[in-house]
Amino acid sequence: MSTNFSTSETRLNLMRAFAGESQARSRYTLAQEKALQQGQYVLSALFKFTADQEKAHAKVFYEHLSELSGSTIKVDGGYPVDISSRLCDLLKMAAHNEDQEADDVYPAFAETARAEGFAKVAQDFENIAQIERSHSARFKKFHDLCTSGRLFSSDKPERWVCMNCGFILESEQAPQKCPVCGVDQGYYIRLEMAAWGL
Ligand SMILES: [Fe+2]
Ligand SMILES: [Fe+2]
Repeated sequence: MSTNFSTSETRLNLMRAFAGESQARSRYTLAQEKALQQGQYVLSALFKFTADQEKAHAKVFYEHLSELSGSTIKVDGGYPVDISSRLCDLLKMAAHNEDQEADDVYPAFAETARAEGFAKVAQDFENIAQIERSHSARFKKFHDLCTSGRLFSSDKPERWVCMNCGFILESEQAPQKCPVCGVDQGYYIRLEMAAWGL
């Protein structure tokens, strides 16, 4: 079956996805600021890293709508209210929303797009669902560390890296203050979890 794009369900799903990604980006940007206020630089960077990727997803979905430029698309949708001053909670809520996109929403949108004859859109929904699954896994990992008080400590020696100056040390505990540049513990992350690894 091939459907006219301007009357398709897929155009509505693309707008729903654009709205969802835009909101996720905003939620993570707010969480990023909150983390920074609490001295949690690594968590702040995690939210920023993910927020930027949500923006990239928003762009992919939005550009599929380019032939409808100038029109207004009305959609309904359910969007989460995830407000907390506790960073552990924000990580949990973020993971939950990522799961919903990955497991339910985007696979369904992909199926509709494929049925309507929009193969590239379907593929983008599937690929981005996969990314959201990795977002969920990352948020869960940090939520776990956060709730168990292990963001900066471990039961075995770990290599820790300062995200400000790059100093690496091996210990069961990240230092209270970086011995090289003096920033707080919140800048320390397990080296294996740092974005660029080593
Ligand atoms: Fe996304
Ligand atoms: Fe995501």
